[in-house]
Amino acid sequence: MDDLGLGNMAWKKVAEKNDVAPGKGREFVVDGKKIAIFNQNGFHALDSVCVHQDGSLAPGKLEGDVVECPLHFWHYNIKTGELLDYIKGVKLQTYKVEVKNDGIYLDL
Ligand code: FES
Repeated sequence: MDDLGLGNMAWKKVAEKNDVAPGKGREFVVDGKKIAIFNQNGFHALDSVCVHQDGSLAPGKLEGDVVECPLHFWHYNIKTGELLDYIKGVKLQTYKVEVKNDGIYLDL
């Protein structure tokens, strides 16, 4: 599914370290793709487009590992990307995050 081969994976700087406030998320467009980075017990990154009706998850309310879509309140685990309501087996793509001295990097 996400087997791009190791050669295609690359760390890319996406944000400055203080771009995402603690307890919040923010959306970044990377190579045309909308990705949400959450600052909640460490940084977590996943596709930010809700599978229901394309709501942006980045401004959603966080509770523990769970973000609530602001539009109709579907819930996702921000560490696994898993949708927690209604449909089984739906997972948003997640990305590894590394915080370096000069910013936040994602493995894309
Ligand atoms: S668009 Fe996310 S719950 Fe409807």
